[in-house]
Amino acid sequence: MDGRTLQERDRQALSALQKLRFFPLSVTAGAGCMLVEEGGRQLLDLSAAWGAASLGYAHPALNLAVAEAMASQAGASILSSTNAPAVELAEKLLDLVPGSDDRRVWLGHSGSDANEMVARAVPEATRRPRIMAFSGAYHGGTLGSMSISGHFAQEGVEKHRGLILVPYPDPYRPFGDDPGGGALLAHIEHLLQAEGTGEEVGCFFMEPIQSDGGMIVPPPGFLSRLSDLCRRYGILTVCDEVKVGLGRPGRLNCFEHEDFTPDILVLGKGLGGGLPISAVAGPSRIMDHARAYSMQTLHGNPICASAALAVLSTIEADGLAGNADTVGRVLIEEIMRATSSTECVGDVRGRGLAIGVELVKDGTSEPNPDLARKTVFRAWQLGAVLYSVGMHSNVLELTPPLILTESQAKFAAETIAQAIKDAHMGLVGDDDISDFTGW
Ligand SMILES: Cc1ncc(COP(=O)(O)O)c(C=O)c1O
Repeated sequence: MDGRTLQERDRQALSALQKLRFFPLSVTAGAGCMLVEEGGRQLLDLSAAWGAASLGYAHPALNLAVAEAMASQAGASILSSTNAPAVELAEKLLDLVPGSDDRRVWLGHSGSDANEMVARAVPEATRRPRIMAFSGAYHGGTLGSMSISGHFAQEGVEKHRGLILVPYPDPYRPFGDDPGGGALLAHIEHLLQAEGTGEEVGCFFMEPIQSDGGMIVPPPGFLSRLSDLCRRYGILTVCDEVKVGLGRPGRLNCFEHEDFTPDILVLGKGLGGGLPISAVAGPSRIMDHARAYSMQTLHGNPICASAALAVLSTIEADGLAGNADTVGRVLIEEIMRATSSTECVGDVRGRGLAIGVELVKDGTSEPNPDLARKTVFRAWQLGAVLYSVGMHSNVLELTPPLILTESQAKFAAETIAQAIKDAHMGLVGDDDISDFTGW
């Protein structure tokens, strides 16, 4: 090589269009929950690449599945031929995901293409042109998925015609001063009652924990009450579990915490354990409403489908939803304990291994995005990888691999508490973070 670091070569070779960087991390290898940085330092990954590396890195089950699928490659697509891994994956998802209708599975590459397909198919199949979704929601980075998102990072992108955005039920910053969500439900019903709106809305997109919007956990029962409301108006519920599904919330599906079953479930990220695959499960009247309607050449390819099958069977066989539940509780408790004397931690919340730590100006609930950016930078210096999210960019997001151990959770909590303290004391300067975009 020419003596330049990976960071230097990256700057000159890779487009800024897809960089959301918080610190200068150059990864050369990974194993389990650990990443190896250029130079050999090991870091505990508390992000799992935004939730994608659900089994951690270099997991033997994933290795084997991909190697076997490549050794006798059953085509490269599902468009004009079928293959066993794709069919088995669809069958497995129909088995795992509750739902009584006649249902089908669509396979894609990412959360973005999956949500985009749903946003196109539902209005056409139901002949209801409008869509409801939550402010703060991040449903993807393609035009169609951005058009139904309410995240500030996508301001300026043209929205789906007739999109109705409503506030997310946030107990820490409640709509109408009602942390239980009753005032918000009344607001939504009021919108649906206006001039036949309820009959025009085909579906309601919901994240059962709003992740990029700030790792917000809705008040208990809110989504099931919202689902009842949607049912009354004939509106389909779409659960986007791309980041917080498949074991991460301490159950296989996040909606199980809420005691309702969505009409349509969207999965991605952790489904492939680091390989690109997404899936949508939904009623055949939507999923079969047209042929050759939403497809990309490599959809349903046997390599990624095999990886997803390996991820699902490992989650089941190794009890990883249970591990996420147990270790997630330890992580939340330890963070609370280690930060109990810190006035700049406003809220610690989460389910399983989907956890948010909201940073505020001392003793207030005013968001502190500067502290969040400096904290994640300091955490990287101290040996842990995590990022910040939220509509105010002030929430530390933890979505580690589902194999995280209790001792790793304890190290994580100590490191995060130390990073907050150091950043608060001014150990990270504005210059240190000025090269990094963050959100
Ligand atoms: C809830 C949710 N949905 C969809 C997406 C888009 O997924 P992808 O970036 O894999 O296309 C994301 C990505 O952050 C997400 O968090």
